[in-house]
Amino acid sequence: MTNSNVRPETMQRINTPALAEAFIEEQLAALREQIGDKKVLLALSGGVDSSVVAALLIRAVGKQLTCVHVNHGLLRKGEPEQVIEVFREKMKANLVYVDATDRFLDKLAGVCDPEQKRKIIGGEFIRVFEEEARKLDGIAFLAQGTIYPDILESHGVKAHHNVGGLPEDLNFELVEPIKLLYKDEVRVVGKQLGLPDSMVFRQPFPGPGLGVRCVGAITRDRLEAVRESDAILREEFAKHGLDEKVWQYFTVVPDVKSTGITDGKRTWDWPVIIRAVNTVDAVTAEPAELNFTFLQKVVRRITTEVKGVNRVLWDLTPKPSATIEWE
Ligand code: XMP
Repeated sequence: MTNSNVRPETMQRINTPALAEAFIEEQLAALREQIGDKKVLLALSGGVDSSVVAALLIRAVGKQLTCVHVNHGLLRKGEPEQVIEVFREKMKANLVYVDATDRFLDKLAGVCDPEQKRKIIGGEFIRVFEEEARKLDGIAFLAQGTIYPDILESHGVKAHHNVGGLPEDLNFELVEPIKLLYKDEVRVVGKQLGLPDSMVFRQPFPGPGLGVRCVGAITRDRLEAVRESDAILREEFAKHGLDEKVWQYFTVVPDVKSTGITDGKRTWDWPVIIRAVNTVDAVTAEPAELNFTFLQKVVRRITTEVKGVNRVLWDLTPKPSATIEWE
């Protein structure tokens, strides 16, 4: 395995199953040589990068790998279950699942400032992971899903503003098998490793998760409205093939209420905001054009299926002036 953080100019772009297979074989040999009979730890978020690293390590060293999946309570519907199913049930990995929802939500209670929310989520994530790491004996290596853009953009620190910075005082040697790959290459490798498409081709999801889509101070009931409306939107996007056409799509629930009427009774509930954008690099973005009948169906489902919601809005603002996320 190369220790260099510079991608050689001669390195071929991995864009076919055969090239992915060759990369996998090369990495398996390199990982086995680096790790020997020692133990490795990995923070597995279920995002494409950490999932590909997990799949490689499971193939290379099997039970010498321990994956830790921290549920901070801000994941999308079905995400922790998918991580458990794919890695524990199917791939037979050692997987420690930590449901730290209460801990995160208690710390976040009453906090409105977006950057403060990010700091709390990032800081707490490191603490939970560190606690789990300390419970395990004889870990020599820490695996990370660093990819080449992380190296180019942030001096090798995994995802600048991502949750998942890792404890500095734990004395582990790093294992970073995909650090010279671009995102599209990671996906080709992930597919070749047999990971499900829903994991490999998923839209970007921020480290602080639904926490930045539950605008202002997070409450459990409003967070549930974000999670349920997001699940409906994703389901409808997938049903209509829009998941392959739109770069990022999600729902936001602001901390305001408006009047509505259901079964002849006045309601005082939240609106759900639909956000769907296309972009090349997330620096600028355009709202995705959505069909009106499709939107009406989504509105109907959200207002009838999601508790505490009586109105749906569509955010048509490009970036700039708006950012993609609401916080
Ligand atoms: P904005 O809202 O800045 O988002 O236009 C650009 C892209 O970055 C994602 N994003 C984040 N990703 N941690 C992340 O890992 C964050 O704190 C964060 N904030 C925004 C956003 O989802 C979009 O894809």
